[in-house]
Amino acid sequence: MNSKNPFSLIDKTILITGASSGIGQGIAIACAGQGAKVLLMGRNVERLEETVQLCANGLGHAYFSVDLQQVGGWQEELTAFLKAHAPIQGFVHAAGISPTIPLKVMKSQQMLDCFQLNVFSAVQLIQLITKPGIKSPEGMSVVLISSVMSEAGEKGKSLYAMTKAALVALVKSLALEYAEKRIRFNAVSPAVVDTPLSLGSHYRKEEEAMREVLKQHPLGLGSAADVGNASVFLLSEASRWVTGTNLIVDGGYLAR
Ligand SMILES: NC(=O)c1ccc[n+]([C@@H]2O[C@H](COP(=O)([O-])OP(=O)(O)OC[C@H]3O[C@@H](n4cnc5c(N)ncnc54)[C@H](OP(=O)(O)O)[C@@H]3O)[C@@H](O)[C@H]2O)c1
Repeated sequence: MNSKNPFSLIDKTILITGASSGIGQGIAIACAGQGAKVLLMGRNVERLEETVQLCANGLGHAYFSVDLQQVGGWQEELTAFLKAHAPIQGFVHAAGISPTIPLKVMKSQQMLDCFQLNVFSAVQLIQLITKPGIKSPEGMSVVLISSVMSEAGEKGKSLYAMTKAALVALVKSLALEYAEKRIRFNAVSPAVVDTPLSLGSHYRKEEEAMREVLKQHPLGLGSAADVGNASVFLLSEASRWVTGTNLIVDGGYLAR
């Protein structure tokens, strides 16, 4: 039974990467809170199981453990997993790393590793989930978690920023390529959100640097639920006329 509430995710199955921690976990909880069945991806099985518990809503959530920094070796098994849970109405790519590497010491392998996880694995997963027998014939919504660094620079963040800008570019072309098939593509760009990733940042260890970061966020730092709620909007019918865009969710970071 479908709800009349356009923000509802009842009767939708959503695949989420990075679901074992932070923003991806928050997105999974927000989706399940709106009635979705969630399929969770990450490497750490214990934390994926924890997310399953946090998403409990009476539906048969499932998880698939995989290292997305590996270019190959997982597609066949994942395809079987997705077919078993098809049709899928939504996909969120939240898996990512945020290395801080000054240009003069940046290595080719670091670039390849960061692009593989943050960008190329998203492309590979989109290729899989848009296949007949996996995607819902009624259409699908894809949400890629980018960052305010797709728009604003930061010292030592050139590699990370390149990967996040690539996601914003990706959704624009795919939005056009797949509009006829009713598949929508959007990015979400958060500023600093309290998660294990941001808690490991250098500025957390220096009082003055942390004060500066707080000053950049007029509404304070974000929570995983803030990004979860924005993603729910993009995954739901409430956004049926929204595609190829970058939704900034940043507590006012980019407003100045
Ligand atoms: N936190 C922020 O302030 C912030 C701001 C803007 C954008 N973002 C973006 O939001 C996304 C999530 O960040 P977060 O703060 O939630 O980070 P997080 O707490 O460190 O979570 C990262 C997630 O990515 C998964 N992951 C990492 N390496 C992986 C690999 N090789 N294969 C498969 N999965 C992998 C992790 O799963 P396992 O550990 O189980 O592998 C985990 O679920 C990232 O794309 C990040 O760039 C974060």
